[in-house]
Amino acid sequence: MTKFISVQDAMKQGKGKVAVRGWIHRERGSNKMKFLVLRDSTNIIQCVLKRENFEDQWEEIDSLLVESSIELEGEIKEDKRAPTGFEILVSKINIIQISEDFPINKSLNEELLGDRRHLWLRSRKMTSILKIRSTVFGAIDEYFRSKGFYEYHSPIFQSVQCEGGSSLFSVNYFKKKGVFLAQTWQLYAEPAIFSLEKIYTISPSFRAEESKTSRHLTEYWHAEMEVAWANFKEIQDYGEELLKHIVKKVLEKNKPELEILERDVKKLEPTLNKKFPRMTYTESLKILKEKCKMKIPWGKDLRTIEEDKLSKLYDTPIIVTEYPKVVKAFYMRETEGKPEVVNGCDFIAPEGYGEIIGGSEREADPEKIKKRLKEEGEDVEQYSFYLDTRKYGSIPHGGFGMGVERVISWICGSTTIKDAIPFPRTMARVKP
Ligand code: 4AD
Ligand code: MG
Repeated sequence: MTKFISVQDAMKQGKGKVAVRGWIHRERGSNKMKFLVLRDSTNIIQCVLKRENFEDQWEEIDSLLVESSIELEGEIKEDKRAPTGFEILVSKINIIQISEDFPINKSLNEELLGDRRHLWLRSRKMTSILKIRSTVFGAIDEYFRSKGFYEYHSPIFQSVQCEGGSSLFSVNYFKKKGVFLAQTWQLYAEPAIFSLEKIYTISPSFRAEESKTSRHLTEYWHAEMEVAWANFKEIQDYGEELLKHIVKKVLEKNKPELEILERDVKKLEPTLNKKFPRMTYTESLKILKEKCKMKIPWGKDLRTIEEDKLSKLYDTPIIVTEYPKVVKAFYMRETEGKPEVVNGCDFIAPEGYGEIIGGSEREADPEKIKKRLKEEGEDVEQYSFYLDTRKYGSIPHGGFGMGVERVISWICGSTTIKDAIPFPRTMARVKP
C-alpha cells in the first residue's frame, strides 16, 4: 500500500519520491503539460504532469477541474517559481472523483458566498481562519486548566434572563412559556463555585439582538469563567492574562495562516508585552472629550462609535471599569463608596473590534439584587435558585464572558465576525 504523507511533510522531505493526496486548488495546461496545484489541510504544492508519461490517461487528466480529488506519486524538488517553493514531477495519478464545475469564484458577492458557505469553507482564507480558531479554543482550555479551573457546564434551555429580556430567544418547549436559549452560563455557574471554586466553560450563547453589525452573531461561542473569593482586580487580571495567552499561542502556531490573511502581526505584538490600560468609565468620557472631541453625557452607555474612537488611541485591549449602574446588568456589585457605579468591566479590543470581554464582581446583597430585578420588571420568584447562593455561605466572587468570535476576528483582522465561525447565524441568515 502506498504511504501518503501531507503536503507539508513532503516539502519538509524536499527531495525524492513522495505520495500525496488532496484536492485540485488550481489547474492550467496545454496539450503537452498539465499543472495542478494540489491542496490538502496542511498546504498547497505545484504538481506537473507530462503528457508523454500519461498517454492513455491524458483525456481524463486534461478534463480535471478544480476541487477534483486525486492521489499523486512523483519526485519532489525545490522550485523557486512554484507558489510554495516546491514542485512534484508526477509519475502516477489516481483520480478519486472528477469534480463538477465548482460554483465558487472571485466574482461572488458576500450573499452568494453565504449561500455556498459549505463550499467556501475550503478557501485558503477560511481554512486559515479555522486553523486559528482551533488554536484559540485550545489556548482557552489550556489557560484555564493550567490555573486550576474545572470545566463546568450549564444548561442551554434556561428559565431566566441574565443580560436583558430584549435579547432572549424564546423556545417552544412543549408549549411552555418562559423557556429561553442561554445568553450566558452565569446564573447557573455561580451556584457551582460553592463546590468547585474556579470554573470555566466554552459554549454557545444566543442573542436575539436586532443588530446587523459586523460584530453581532445570534449564536456565538462564549468562553466564561467564575471564581470564588476573587476581587474585581483579580477578575480583570485573569482576563488580561487569558488574552495574552491566546495571542501568544496564535503567534507561535499560526504565522503562516496570519500571512495568508495578510494580517500585520506587529499590530498583535503589543498585546503580549504591554500592560492593558485600565480606566474608569468616567475617565474614559474625559479622554473621549479631550482626545476625540466627543461629548457623552455621564450615565449613557458607550456606543460602538465611542468604543471605536477610544480603542484606536491604544495598541492593546483596554479595560473600562466602574460603569453607571443603569447601563449594566442586575448582578453587578455596587462599587464601594460609589453607589451610582458598579464593579463591571468591559475589555475593548484595539483597531475598532469592540467589546471582547464583559465581566464583573457579583453583588452579594440579595436585597439589592431583588430591587434591581424588580426595576427590570422581572418576576423575582423565578430567580429564587440564584438568590439562594447569597443565603448559604455567600462569598465575594466574580467572573467574565469572552466572545470567542470577536477575539478571532480581531486576531485575524477580519472585516466581519461572520468569517470567524464556520456557519454564521445572524438576523438575516440561518442557512445552510
Ligand atoms: O457582556 P456580555 O453580555 O456578558 C455576559 O453575558 C456575562 N454574563 C458574562 C459573564 O460574566 N459570565 O457578553 C460577554 C461577551 C461580550 O463581551 C462579547 O464579546 C460577546 O460576549 N458577545 C457577543 N459576541 C458575538 N455576538 C453577539 N451578539 C454578542 N453579544 C455578546
Ligand atoms: Mg457586555
